[in-house]
Amino acid sequence: MRGRSVRIIYICLACVFALTACRAGGSEQTANSNSPTITPIANRFSEGETELPDSRKIRLGFSQLGSESDWRLANTESIREAAEEAGIELLFDNAEQSQQKQVEAVRSFIAQKVDVIAIAPVIETGWEPVLQEAKQAGIPVIVSDRFVELQDPSLVVTFVGSDFYDEGQKAAKYMIDKMRDQGDRIGIVELRGTEGSTPSIERGSGFHDLIKDRENFKLLESESADFTFAKGKEVMRKFLERRGSDIKVLFSHNDDMALGAVEAIEEFGMRPGKDIIIISVDGTRKAFEKMAEGKINCIVECNPLLGPILMQLVMEISEGRSLPNRIVTPESVFTESMAAAEVNNRKY
Ligand code: AHR
Repeated sequence: MRGRSVRIIYICLACVFALTACRAGGSEQTANSNSPTITPIANRFSEGETELPDSRKIRLGFSQLGSESDWRLANTESIREAAEEAGIELLFDNAEQSQQKQVEAVRSFIAQKVDVIAIAPVIETGWEPVLQEAKQAGIPVIVSDRFVELQDPSLVVTFVGSDFYDEGQKAAKYMIDKMRDQGDRIGIVELRGTEGSTPSIERGSGFHDLIKDRENFKLLESESADFTFAKGKEVMRKFLERRGSDIKVLFSHNDDMALGAVEAIEEFGMRPGKDIIIISVDGTRKAFEKMAEGKINCIVECNPLLGPILMQLVMEISEGRSLPNRIVTPESVFTESMAAAEVNNRKY
């Protein structure tokens, strides 16, 4: 029975992949045929077998970067659930924001001879040596959520995740429109994510590229708060002490930091969402609740539910198929007026 349901899930996932692949744009569709391959899954079932023995299940080693945000918790949950449903044996490691621990996890997956390795990397640089080791061991690697910077692109089979640059641009477009009648000195503060991480680099670039030639917008402060609620609150408090009512807009690179900032703004005696326009990224249920209360004005969605597509890619690799080298998840923008209707639909 289990074997049949695994096959059915596999067929469904293949359909999802076809749809997702169609949505991803142009050069992102280039197939990467340089990666090592493993035993095709079809060959893992013997004649008349209804259940895949543990010894022949696909083994996936997944290195998660941490548990810094609600987004990350939802991402972890999605990966665990999808692996279970697909009948994939998951070796999971949480690196608690340490790249060194991620490297150690990858080495341990190599030593355990997993079939596929997936990494959600905390920062972009410093991956080449350990990925060379995985390649030499013939283990294909998928990068999920954030990018890695590589001289040799053949070290990674595919990337699945969001277009963070586009997210930054969406945030800036909302702000430009919202503030169009607000005069010529609009003070902005920015809460950046983890230094050196793709979402922080790309969201920042996307946002700044759109406003750099608009002289009415002034960036007053920009500092990393590491994607956490506590640091978001602490750094926003500092911004308020230094800049007070000159702050008209907050761009926060994620919801956890924005929620911390909302508390700091209220404690300072200002009204979040009114005295200070707040634009955030992710789309967690908690942030939607605050938006429904009028305390956040806009949320650019970033989807953490990558488990099903990741498992599908693992299966595709196991089939020996070529994959696009980048798969981008489709995402929306939500504003105050949509919050009440949407809040109960949020899955994370
Ligand atoms: O890499 C995705 C980002 O990491 C999410 O926006 C953030 O909440 C998380 O910590």
